[in-house]
Amino acid sequence: MPEQPKLAPIVKWVGGKRQLLPEILPLLPRDMSCYCEAFLGGGALLYALEPHRAMVNDLNADIIELYQVIKNDVEGLITALEEHKNAHTEEHFYEVRSWDRDAAAFERLSPVQKAARFMYLNRTCYNGLHRVNSKGYFNSPYGRYVNPNIVNAPLLRAVSEFFNRAQVQFSHEDFADFLKRLEPGSFVYLDPPYDQVKEHAFTSYSKTGFDRADQLRLKQCCDDLTARGIKFLLSNAATPFIQELYQDYSCHIVHAKRLVNSVGAKRGPVEEVLVRNYATAPSGQSSLF
Ligand SMILES: C[S@@+](CC[C@H](N)C(=O)[O-])C[C@H]1O[C@@H](n2cnc3c(N)ncnc32)[C@H](O)[C@@H]1O
Repeated sequence: MPEQPKLAPIVKWVGGKRQLLPEILPLLPRDMSCYCEAFLGGGALLYALEPHRAMVNDLNADIIELYQVIKNDVEGLITALEEHKNAHTEEHFYEVRSWDRDAAAFERLSPVQKAARFMYLNRTCYNGLHRVNSKGYFNSPYGRYVNPNIVNAPLLRAVSEFFNRAQVQFSHEDFADFLKRLEPGSFVYLDPPYDQVKEHAFTSYSKTGFDRADQLRLKQCCDDLTARGIKFLLSNAATPFIQELYQDYSCHIVHAKRLVNSVGAKRGPVEEVLVRNYATAPSGQSSLF
């Protein structure tokens, strides 16, 4: 039998955490009844950890629907992706991209067709950037890759097998609603859109759609998790605003070289902070502050 591939993100996602995993993994508690993530995105930590049970969430309904299709009908998805792969040209890309312009026709697509469209566009658009305009239409341009990896069937099957084995529960709601539902004994990883270094406090404008009012809401949720006995680890940009906000928690600064801006040209080293509400003993046992 062929060996199962190692689990890894199946979409390119801005803010993906693969480079930060060596810093995050040693800080995780070993004792958790359920692994939870409020801002799942590409899910780098979920795959690295392969927990026994998981509840995961992202406000982006398209990516969550893709994961649900992988869980429930991975063979249907692989077949639909093969069709896109065989038809792949710049013209086909723009044709598939335009499907959401006709709302009624788009709604008639099956979950498999929508998931395959989302994944095909993600693998072939410029930089894997998921961008929609004010009308909600996907508008990232064509990526000009010589040989894009449109369908990796062994990886998709391995991810599907894991989603079923761990009975992963998916939701697409605001983080505050998701966090309210977590049970004591759970551990939650929080990886929100990063605080923008140049952002002015309390403006509603934010390039990520996640402003300082959202960062403050998230901090309140963290206090609430602590009061309910739920451990969390949060990653964010180490801006003065974030460091002051979480000064009562354990903060660990790390240097990472990765994409933090949506523009590829702005890649560069950034300081990030890992915030926790628990301490880990050398035995691996961890306790809340
Ligand atoms: C930094 S990314 C997470 C990256 C992920 N850890 C990975 O490895 O790919 C932040 C995610 O938060 C999601 N998001 C933005 N606002 C949100 C909200 N209010 N509630 C829940 N998720 C939200 C975005 O859709 C995005 O996927």
